[in-house]
Amino acid sequence: MELRHYLQFRDFTLDEYEYLFARTRWIKDKFKRYEPYQPLVDRTLALVFEKHSTRTRVSFEAGMNQLGGSVITLMTRDTQMGRGEPIEDVARVISRMVDIIMIRTFEQTIIECFSKYSRVPVINGLTNEYHPCQILGDIFTYIEHRGSIRGRTVAWIGDSNNVCNTWLQAATIFDFNVHVSTPPGYEVEPERAGIYDTSHFESFSDPLEAVRGADLVTTDVWTSMGMEAEDAERKHDFEDWQVDAEMMGLATADALFMHCLPAHRGEEVAAEVIDGPQSVVWDEAENRLHVQKALMEYLLLGRTIV
Ligand code: CP
Ligand code: NVA
Repeated sequence: MELRHYLQFRDFTLDEYEYLFARTRWIKDKFKRYEPYQPLVDRTLALVFEKHSTRTRVSFEAGMNQLGGSVITLMTRDTQMGRGEPIEDVARVISRMVDIIMIRTFEQTIIECFSKYSRVPVINGLTNEYHPCQILGDIFTYIEHRGSIRGRTVAWIGDSNNVCNTWLQAATIFDFNVHVSTPPGYEVEPERAGIYDTSHFESFSDPLEAVRGADLVTTDVWTSMGMEAEDAERKHDFEDWQVDAEMMGLATADALFMHCLPAHRGEEVAAEVIDGPQSVVWDEAENRLHVQKALMEYLLLGRTIV
């Protein structure tokens, strides 16, 4: 089977995403009926974390265990990577011992280098630039609640970070629109976002205008991991970019609210929104488990017959 990696959202086609979502529904239904499904017996997943995580770690660990495989979790500070072992050497070694690898790291160039030297599939569990597994879960969640996302409008309010960049890549593939509003100085950089077709993306200086008529409103922390030194400055710069009830009121009446979590109530989102009736953040978090099980199955076994 051809070796495939999942390093950014545009690595897969629409046809592959439709397949993955069909598999996700099947895997999720079976899980909800307490029916074991263990196609990955004897397979081992290595998780490599250079940054903190709750959801990504638990969803990959639980997911691989549920599929019948086993997991080794490495926090890089405890390994020789934390003492400067070259990433190329680590990739060569780990990929001779396990069947699939997920990495959460800093620059996208690190995961690209790792994948070049890996004999097995590599999954991006978040880099400074992208978070493809998150948007995989988010779009599945949108479809579960509202049907097709094609032609819909997603409003992204706040920092043009890894999660925002991934929404922008997804918009081209799924043919929806993204309205982005960031404070001045924090605008989207299309090249960094990895989007060459900007026809699905519009920027707004006023967050209220970005949200007007949107079908989905989403945001994320003002300060991502690795940028903690800018925290005080960002709290000041982003204070008008909080998603609150007034802002949600400008979206369509049945708009959903999403946040990848962890959230800071009173900063990027008001408690009344994240804990309110339009919020689907807990479904969004749960669906990480189901979509990533489908993703691992696909990368290891290819298309399977249901
Ligand atoms: N959303 C997300 O990736 O969460 P964690 O940082 O907890 O993994
Ligand atoms: N943008 C956030 C996402 C955390 C899941 C970060 O990179 O810290």
